[in-house]
Amino acid sequence: MMVRTLGADRLKDDPIRRQIPDGAAFASDTMSDAATPADARPTLVLTGASRGIGHATVKRFSREGWRVITCSRQDFAADCPWPAGPEDHIKVDLSDPEDVGYAVSEIRQRLQANGGKLQALVNNAAISPKAGKGARMDSIRTPMHVWRDVFQVNFFAPIMLARGLHQELASANGAIVNVTSIVGSRVHPFAGTAYATSKAALASLTREMAADFGPDGIRVNAIAPGEIDTAILSPGTEKIVEQIPMRRLGKTSEVADIIYFLCSGQASYVNGAEIHINGGQHV
Ligand SMILES: NC(=O)c1ccc[n+]([C@@H]2O[C@H](COP(=O)([O-])OP(=O)(O)OC[C@H]3O[C@@H](n4cnc5c(N)ncnc54)[C@H](OP(=O)(O)O)[C@@H]3O)[C@@H](O)[C@H]2O)c1
Repeated sequence: MMVRTLGADRLKDDPIRRQIPDGAAFASDTMSDAATPADARPTLVLTGASRGIGHATVKRFSREGWRVITCSRQDFAADCPWPAGPEDHIKVDLSDPEDVGYAVSEIRQRLQANGGKLQALVNNAAISPKAGKGARMDSIRTPMHVWRDVFQVNFFAPIMLARGLHQELASANGAIVNVTSIVGSRVHPFAGTAYATSKAALASLTREMAADFGPDGIRVNAIAPGEIDTAILSPGTEKIVEQIPMRRLGKTSEVADIIYFLCSGQASYVNGAEIHINGGQHV
């Protein structure tokens, strides 16, 4: 308990927390200990919920009765297939560090309905730019501005969100899941170098965060999908599937199930793991 308090204090001096605009106060500054949360549901903050793995994840958590605060570049979709309102969606461009700082303050304000507690943060959003006709962007030709964008969305945004929401996660003994990739550990025919190295960095960051956040009661793990049936896949993926031991693509729901497991009490002693979800592609 004492360690967690020290951890929260430590983060008050964090430069990212200082960057938060609007004079947004820490949840504990604005809610008295006696305040009763209006919303008792466990809460997930999820980036990149608009399609693919993120979409399956928001459906999985909603089905289990969680409140899911979604973050993506799109506006809140009134016809979204889970029970939510605009108060549970934040429009943010993760490629813009200032926008991420603003999103952190927005999220913290909206978490006050849950008593300033956050049970899970899933860093799922990512970009994987391709050259003309879907060609792989290699380490020789990738422009530096592309490299910077990829690292901002895929690597810096996750740590900015995790640090910015540290206090709320610590208050709930929460969990973080970083979505990495099989390409973080091997050269892939379609995945670009910037994307692959950002995922390798995110896997390393998961290990570092597990050590740093663990004493504050926050578990940090990663999942590394292989070829999952989403829009991110390139033409020609069917050739790769022939080499996968299970001879098929993964389903987004199969990834969402593992994310849910890692955020649940069933994974209460799992910290610093990176789980392969790839039908045996890595063997
Ligand atoms: N599909 C696979 O086979 C596979 C394999 C390995 C790893 N992964 C990883 O799994 C995760 C999800 O992949 P996916 O295939 O589901 O991806 P996807 O279909 O391309 O969806 C990406 C999500 O990220 C959001 N996003 C992208 N750029 C953003 C930005 N600048 N700011 C805010 N949100 C942004 C998108 O929302 P908006 O466009 O609405 O902003 C979208 O919801 C990624 O981390 C990916 O690297 C996927």
